[in-house]
Amino acid sequence: MNDREAELRDKILGLKKKRNAVILVHNYQLGEVQDIGDFIGDSLELSQNAARTDADVIVFCGVHFMAETASIICPSKTVLLPEIHAGCPMANMITAEALRARKKEHPGVPVVCYINSSAAVKAESDVCCTSANAVKVVESVDAGEVLFVPDQYLGHYVSTKTNKKFILWPGFCPTHARIRPEHIAQAKREYPNAVVVVHPECKPDVIAVADQVFSTSGMIRFAQRDDVKEMIVGTEVGIIHRLRKENPGKKFIPVSEQAVCPNMKLINLEKVLWSLEEMQPEVKVPEGIRVKAIAAVDKMLAIGRSQ
Ligand code: 13P
Ligand code: SF4
Repeated sequence: MNDREAELRDKILGLKKKRNAVILVHNYQLGEVQDIGDFIGDSLELSQNAARTDADVIVFCGVHFMAETASIICPSKTVLLPEIHAGCPMANMITAEALRARKKEHPGVPVVCYINSSAAVKAESDVCCTSANAVKVVESVDAGEVLFVPDQYLGHYVSTKTNKKFILWPGFCPTHARIRPEHIAQAKREYPNAVVVVHPECKPDVIAVADQVFSTSGMIRFAQRDDVKEMIVGTEVGIIHRLRKENPGKKFIPVSEQAVCPNMKLINLEKVLWSLEEMQPEVKVPEGIRVKAIAAVDKMLAIGRSQ
């Protein structure tokens, strides 16, 4: 930690105490932000933590839909997103209006909605899922067919693990779409003994050449296994910081240095400090949408994680 980081960290910790705040950090955030987090995790773990914290303020270091989910779960708490422009392009590939129109074309088909979506889209959905429990959530739905939104690649991956019929929405993550099978082949040539682990937001041709498919925290857990010594990592590069920090003797090879989510990199220590000083930018889901969205989120939390 350099002098700048140490100075900012001390100020943040002081203010955090004064505000009774908790800092939740996604695995893709900058290393300097991960290092001051009270909890670092994947989308499901961060939602679970928001649900159980007794802090008055949640500083959410992630992207907009994550802060919205915390606001859905904890309406009485102040949820701060230190950079309000940190959005998720995939979440923006579907609107509540477009989803309502699609539902009319498929009456009675339950909507399973990836957590990477707006609160308004969640309000139109039957149940939410994350990459850590998508198969379990889809299996829990009492129907032979589901409308899966908005990630077509996660939806496709889950469809290979269940017998249900899928109607897919054409959304995708631009960061994971940059990862190609050629990148994995190249990394494999350099590290023939490494295990290849990818995120289910990757395209099917990438998943086909992987050894394991995990959510970000699923990868963190897998890396702790004694038999894992070298790992080729097919997801956003921010996770490498945590993998290396927690597993000093092991080797982690990012599949592609281009797998960067620019939105996840918008938050830094200065912005975290500023948000605690000013108590903004605040993310608050309007009550009319929140009461409709909470059912889908609660169902997901009750199901928990599958990996
Ligand atoms: P998880 O951390 O839940 O695996 O999700 C990855 C992601 O893209 C979050 O935006
Ligand atoms: Fe959205 Fe992809 Fe960034 Fe995750 S990595 S926030 S899915 S754009």
